[in-house]
Amino acid sequence: MELYLDTADIDEIKSAFNIGIVKGVTTNPTILLKTRKSRENSIRDILKYSKGMVYVQTVSEKYEDIMSEVQSLLEFDNKRIGIKIPVTPDGIKAIKELSDKSIKTIATAVFTTSQAVVSALAGADYIAPYINRMEQNEIDAINIIKEIRNIYEMNNIETKILAASFRNMEQIMRVIKAGAQAVTISYELFCEMFNNYLTEKSINKFKEDWDELNDKLKNSF
Ligand code: E4P
Repeated sequence: MELYLDTADIDEIKSAFNIGIVKGVTTNPTILLKTRKSRENSIRDILKYSKGMVYVQTVSEKYEDIMSEVQSLLEFDNKRIGIKIPVTPDGIKAIKELSDKSIKTIATAVFTTSQAVVSALAGADYIAPYINRMEQNEIDAINIIKEIRNIYEMNNIETKILAASFRNMEQIMRVIKAGAQAVTISYELFCEMFNNYLTEKSINKFKEDWDELNDKLKNSF
C-alpha cells in the first residue's frame, strides 16, 4: 500500500509529511491554480517541504513539446521529480521514451481498461484512474480497477494502480479493497483517515480514568 498526497499546499504538505507515512506528492494544473504561485515556485517549495517523489503533470499536447517540458521539469531535481502525463497517443509515446530512460512516470486521466493496457505497454510506473470522475459519469470504477489488476497480474506487469480523484473515504476504501496498490488523496481526506468519534470517546475515557487513578494514589499517601 502506498499513500500519496494530492496537493501543492505547503502547510498541508508539512503537516502530512510530519507523520511519516506519506510516500510522495502528486499535482495537476488545477491543484497548482489554487496556490496562486508559478509552477516553478510551487515545485521548489514542494521539493523543500516533502520527501519522496514529486509528480508534476505536463500540459503540452505534442510529443516533442511534452519531452521539452519534461526536460525543464527534471532540471529541478532529476531524482525526485516524476512526470505525470495524460494518456493520449503522444503522451503514451513520451511515457515509453521516459520509461526507457528510467524516469518515473504516472499515466494520468485513466478512465478505461484499454488505457491502462497501453500505459503498461509503455512502461508507466503508475496509472492514475479517476474514481470520482468515473462515478460521476456512471462508470463502474471498482469493476475497472479489478479488471486492470487482474490483467496486470496475469501478464506480470509491474505498473501499479495509483487511484486518484476522490470525494469521500468510502471511495478510497472501495478501491483499496478492489486491488489498487496506491492512492493519491487530498489533505482533508488524509486527516479523515485517522478520525473516528469512538476513538475520541475511548481516548477521553482513558484520560479520565488515568486522572482518577492518579488522584486516588495521591490521596492514599
Ligand atoms: C491526481 O492524480 C488527479 O489529477 C486528481 O486526483 C484529480 O482529482 P479531481 O477529480 O478531484 O480533480
